[in-house]
Amino acid sequence: MENKRLEGKVAVITGGASGIGEAAVKLFVSHGARVIVADVQDQKGEALCATLGGAASYVHCDVRLEADVKRAVDTAISLHGRLDVMFNNAGISDPAGSSILGEGDLTAAFERVMGVNVLGALLGTKHAARAMTATPGGGGSIITTASVASVMGGLAPPVYTCSKHALLGLTRAAATELGKHGVRVNCVSPALVATPQAVSHTQASLEELEAMGEAISTLKGVKLKAEDIAEAALFLASDESRFVSGHNLMVDGASTATKIF
Ligand SMILES: NC(=O)c1ccc[n+]([C@@H]2O[C@H](COP(=O)([O-])OP(=O)(O)OC[C@H]3O[C@@H](n4cnc5c(N)ncnc54)[C@H](O)[C@@H]3O)[C@@H](O)[C@H]2O)c1
Repeated sequence: MENKRLEGKVAVITGGASGIGEAAVKLFVSHGARVIVADVQDQKGEALCATLGGAASYVHCDVRLEADVKRAVDTAISLHGRLDVMFNNAGISDPAGSSILGEGDLTAAFERVMGVNVLGALLGTKHAARAMTATPGGGGSIITTASVASVMGGLAPPVYTCSKHALLGLTRAAATELGKHGVRVNCVSPALVATPQAVSHTQASLEELEAMGEAISTLKGVKLKAEDIAEAALFLASDESRFVSGHNLMVDGASTATKIF
């Protein structure tokens, strides 16, 4: 590839073994980055790294556990001497059909979903910021995968929606605090992407999910792919976005900007 946009950069990608994270791992490596894949799916993560010729290393990391998140970041420093990009991408949703008035245990859903989606991103942001501000030359880019459910209700179950709104607050607070250290903090917000998570939570097939995704977008004939979200994250990770911070980059075919469904 001629124009390598992450040459020399080191990234940690949580939830990197599957779906959007996996697409980002492959894209970041193709753009010259060295990547730490941090996930709880050890076999999938190891197998992915084995295909990437030494540019990616797997670390078991449950993002709810501070010691695991610290280890993932410390691995980037011990293997490569620096951290330039943290992609807080790991995420889960409430059980399909979950609702405020339903029979489900909302407390359990809250603890599970907020633990991975919000506490995980908070810990990732904290440890990335620690490493980035200690690196000579400073700077860095922290990116979190939010969702169209970060700005609208009715698109996802209630606790998931709550968690993704919270990530906007985290992004804005961290962008405010870390800007003076040259660290940028942003979110990327996908619409429906046919990944293993989306399949398990909607109980639809990949094809049905792609059709649903197209139905809620203004862009007819275009199917949103995990690779499209990885491209948005690549922009936020690269120096091309050097004055972009505190931003929520929607990758949703205008579905949250218009009344389409
Ligand atoms: N697929 C969609 O339609 C969609 C839409 C909007 C936002 N998102 C968000 O995109 C992100 C990636 O999801 P995806 O769709 O690629 O799903 P996915 O299930 O394919 O990938 C999620 C990854 O996160 C990992 N993970 C789960 N819990 C973890 C934990 N405690 N610690 C570390 N890793 C953990 C999983 O093992 C998996 O590899 C999530 O934050 C999700 O909420 C997805």
